[in-house]
Amino acid sequence: AELQVIDHPLIAHKLTLMRKKETSTKNFRQLLDEISTLMAYEVLRDCPVHDVDIETPLEATTGSMIDGKKVVFVSILRAGNGILDGMLRVVPGARVGHIGLYRQPKTLVAVEYYFKLPDNLPERDIVLVDPMLATGNTAIAAVERLKEFHPKSIKFVCLLTCPEGIEAMNRAHPDVPIYTAAVDRQLDDHGYIRPGLGDAGDRIFG
Ligand code: PRP
Repeated sequence: AELQVIDHPLIAHKLTLMRKKETSTKNFRQLLDEISTLMAYEVLRDCPVHDVDIETPLEATTGSMIDGKKVVFVSILRAGNGILDGMLRVVPGARVGHIGLYRQPKTLVAVEYYFKLPDNLPERDIVLVDPMLATGNTAIAAVERLKEFHPKSIKFVCLLTCPEGIEAMNRAHPDVPIYTAAVDRQLDDHGYIRPGLGDAGDRIFG
C-alpha cells in the first residue's frame, strides 16, 4: 500500500515539541490539533470535487467544491479524538464515526467496546484517524470493521508509526493508504514506538 510521510517543517517542528517529556497535556493537545489541520491539507489532496456555477460581483463563472458531507472522519477512541477537531476545522461538513478499541495490556490484542458510524457508507470516503500505529492491531481491527459497511474508500492517518506497524497494516490491508508525520526506529517489547512520544491517550487526556 501507499505510505505517505508528511514531513513538512511545520509538522516536524510541532511533533518534536510533542515528543519532549516536559510538554504539558495542554500544549500536547494543542500541538496535535494544529498538526491534524496541516495533515488534512495533504490527506484530502485527491478528494472528489465537482464544478459549481457561481456569480462573482462582476460575472458568472465556474468554481470547484468538495462535497464535505461525503467525507467521514472515523476516530479510534480515545486518542483519535485528538486528531478529529483539527480535521473538522477544515471540513466542517464532514460526518464523524467512532470506534472504541483498547489494547489488552498483556497480549496487545485490540478489543472493541464501542462502534458507531453514520449511514450510507457506500457513498462515503472514510478517513480513519489514530495518533499511533504501533503493532498495527488496533488499526487493522478498525479497518476490518469498516470494510463490513463497504465504504467507497478508506485512508488511515496517524501521527507516528514504526516499520513493524506499517508492515502489519500493509499485509492485512494493502488497499488502505497510510499517512503519517513520521516513521520512528522500532517497536519495543511493550508495544511502544521508540523513540516515540509515550502513550498518546495519556498525554492528550492526562
Ligand atoms: C493506543 C493508540 C492506538 C493503539 C496503537 O491506544 O492510541 O489506538 O494504542 O497500538 P497498536 O498499533 O499496537 O494497536 P490504547 O490502546 O492505549 O488506548 P487509548 O487510546 O484509549 O489510550
